[in-house]
Amino acid sequence: MAVTVPPPATRRQPAARQRPRRTLRAGVFGLGAALPERVVTNDDLADRLDTTDEWIVRRTGIRTRRWLADGAPLARLAADACAEALADAGRTPDEVDRVIVSTITPDQITPGLAPAVAGLLGCSPTTAAMDLNAACAGFLTALDEAAALVESGRARVVLVCGAEAISRLTDHDDRGTAVLFGDGAGAVVVSGGDLELGISTFVHGSDPTQAHTLYADQGDRVLRMDGQTVYRHAVARMIESTNAALASAGLTVADVDLFVAHQANARIIESASAQLGLTDEQVMIDVDRCANTSSATIPLALHRAEAEGRLRPGATIAFAAFGAGYVWTAGVVRWKERVHVCA
Ligand code: UT7
Repeated sequence: MAVTVPPPATRRQPAARQRPRRTLRAGVFGLGAALPERVVTNDDLADRLDTTDEWIVRRTGIRTRRWLADGAPLARLAADACAEALADAGRTPDEVDRVIVSTITPDQITPGLAPAVAGLLGCSPTTAAMDLNAACAGFLTALDEAAALVESGRARVVLVCGAEAISRLTDHDDRGTAVLFGDGAGAVVVSGGDLELGISTFVHGSDPTQAHTLYADQGDRVLRMDGQTVYRHAVARMIESTNAALASAGLTVADVDLFVAHQANARIIESASAQLGLTDEQVMIDVDRCANTSSATIPLALHRAEAEGRLRPGATIAFAAFGAGYVWTAGVVRWKERVHVCA
């Protein structure tokens, strides 16, 4: 039997066609954090090392850090942060397609943290779980990977976690590094939506020629650092990459509500943000509370910013991080932008 197809002009347009078509964009929809109970003050360290609270605060801005108890699994801390992020996003563990945990301090060399985290959360057996190592730039690198997975349609809900027990990778007799590091975990939920900016373009870089200035060998398994060299490169690369990320998003520093950089040293953040032209009100500092927790610093700083009312849905965040490799990353995110959640 012949079927008559009406000419295109007379066909009824489906409702969705009448809206301007937008591309699926990835965004951040939930945040969680977890810190170990043990608080270690600068005075605690000065009791056993040739250092003072005054030196540590003046040179780094650090006042306290948290250390995970001996034998306590980092996976549990990471799972706590992820559970809070899922609840904040209104998601359940069985909805998670992938768990990406950024860490340089997994509980074992292998397996990684992510499968344990997925198990502790009660994710489905079809959830992919993997660790990612991009040192202190790991959380932002994982965030960009998660955005790519969501925007390509290969995943609908991705948990991105930065979790570290750097106290286990620290030479506690070396005052040059022992005072700098702490432990903690933070996580976000990434999924897709009809968003204006979402997780915007990220820029990345790497340079292995300076690897000898920040590393931990398989042999002695503690972090070694030429602090001044790392400091100089960190400031320069974070400025360049932040400017590049803002330009690629079509934004300027005036559009930034909050600059959240890797928290290694308050002086690094203050120097980079002053040279970028940011005001103090635009800059988040959390290193005083948590010290350098490598890939956990950024989600921990975000968590504090939200708790202190400095980060509201719709805020524009500029991110930058720099770490061992060297590797560095910067990007722009519209925070918890809620237009129309597709997934
Ligand atoms: O997360 C990855 C990225 N990491 C970073 O970005 C860290 C980058 N580097 C830094 O943050 C800083 O270089 C440090 C905080 C590590 C060091 O600060 P600095 O102002 O560069 O100090 P310095 O290494 O030049 O040392 C100055 C002095 C030295 O004594 P002399 O040689 O001048 O007599 C050090 O021995 O301070 C001494 N010193 C300390 N004194 C008291 C080093 N550590 C300590 C300490 N307490 N804990």
